[in-house]
Amino acid sequence: MLSIQNLRKSFGGVQALENCSFKVGEGKITALIGPNGSGKTTLFNIVSGLLKADSGKVFFQGKNITNKKPERIARLGVSRLFQQSRLFENLAVEENLLLALNEDDEKFWKNALGLNNPGKEKHVKVKEILKTVGLENVGKKLSRDLSFGQKRLVELARAIAKPHSFLMLDEPIAGINPKLRVEIAKALKSLKKQGQTILLIEHDMSFTLGIADFVIVLDDGRVIAEGVPSKIRKNPKVLEAYLGE
Ligand SMILES: Nc1ncnc2c1ncn2[C@@H]1O[C@H](COP(=O)(O)OP(=O)(O)OP(=O)(O)O)[C@@H](O)[C@H]1O
Ligand SMILES: [Mg+2]
Repeated sequence: MLSIQNLRKSFGGVQALENCSFKVGEGKITALIGPNGSGKTTLFNIVSGLLKADSGKVFFQGKNITNKKPERIARLGVSRLFQQSRLFENLAVEENLLLALNEDDEKFWKNALGLNNPGKEKHVKVKEILKTVGLENVGKKLSRDLSFGQKRLVELARAIAKPHSFLMLDEPIAGINPKLRVEIAKALKSLKKQGQTILLIEHDMSFTLGIADFVIVLDDGRVIAEGVPSKIRKNPKVLEAYLGE
């Protein structure tokens, strides 16, 4: 689904990514982990077209998308949750989601849902997605009146609402309470069951290793380990990277 090949990116003297290469398999949950500043968000920014790579390539579904415009990459089916908030604070929660649904062509959902009334269908979809993230009761509230955790959930809902075939989540459960974390883990697993491909950045190890099929570990902009969660848990390099933080 996604192939990262020898990516490099520096900011002034800081080498954020150093010859970074890995693949993301279709229909799987892949976790991208690593200490603070190891280059995870930078990698997301390059894949989604917000930053240009110094060198290296990104292929999505076999297409070279390196340094293409963000809109173009989104249209190919890449949806993203940002580490920092990008909600429309003065719109109701529902409106934020409707905007996300409207971001691309209506055909996608018509086909996906087998419905032909776009207005109603979208409201149904919004309710369904809000329920997925445990926010069915706040749809009418203005986004700015939500708690930090609730805002994160709306953003997660928005990333899910955008028509996509590939979901990139940058720290979806940061600031979310333990009970909801369990709900989100369930929601992500259910998205996977529906055939979605997810790339997930997350610091919470029990959450991450609990849902990931495959794990890539970055340290100083390089891949230092990759494998299934049970292997990653025991990998000395990984333990060292985290303990040495
Ligand atoms: N726009 C920027 N300008 C300058 N330096 C940057 C910029 N973006 C990232 N960096 C630097 O690049 C390195 C990698 O940052 P990045 O945000 O990718 O890390 P991260 O793995 O996402 O960390 P965290 O887990 O804390 O979110 C860091 O040293 C960071 O300070
Ligand atoms: Mg980050």
